[in-house]
Amino acid sequence: MAASKLMIVVVVMAIASFRLPSTVAQTSHVVGDTTGWTIPPGGNATYITWASSQTFTVGDTLVFNFATNAHDVAEVREEAYGPCTTANPISTNNTGPAILTLTRPGNHYYICTFGTHCQAGQKLTITVAESSTTPAPPGSTTPPSPPAPSSASSFTAVVPITFLAAALAFFY
Ligand SMILES: *[C@@H]1O[C@H](CO)[C@@H](O)[C@H](O)[C@H]1NC(C)=O
Ligand SMILES: *[C@@H]1O[C@H](CO)[C@@H](O)[C@H](O)[C@H]1NC(C)=O
Repeated sequence: MAASKLMIVVVVMAIASFRLPSTVAQTSHVVGDTTGWTIPPGGNATYITWASSQTFTVGDTLVFNFATNAHDVAEVREEAYGPCTTANPISTNNTGPAILTLTRPGNHYYICTFGTHCQAGQKLTITVAESSTTPAPPGSTTPPSPPAPSSASSFTAVVPITFLAAALAFFY
């Protein structure tokens, strides 16, 4: 009786661990490291160099460390980034520190809209990679897979675990 109870516990644990989706590490990127988000003393190379040291993935966060009212962070379109155009940003956050979650892949452009801060190099562009768990966009060229015997395949996946668990249970 005790052995069969243990076996049930082991089977449940084995199936539970088998079914758990792997957790994806989400990275928090502190923009400019200890420099923070400011007019960079080293000019526009500062954030270019910083960004090249990082790998950005959907789900990661950007931490812009700045004092409220001294700077802000606006996400802008590519065409606004070069000339530091502050009109019609995609979004603006003027409360420091601002933590932005990267929700879509591709290029992102951030500037400070205060005075000539952007012209002085307080601007950041990054390229965000798709998360490995992001489902493929509709219309991708994957051919339709043949009808899968899903109940049979999930059954065959559980059976070896059940045997393993049963074998384990007999050792105890
Ligand atoms: C960085 O600043 C220099 C000097 O002002 C300028 O020539 C260059 O185009 C700038 N680079 C970028 C990527 O903004
Ligand atoms: C700005 O960022 C802070 C910290 O992440 C957040 O609490 C606040 O809601 C943001 N404000 C706007 C307008 O997005």
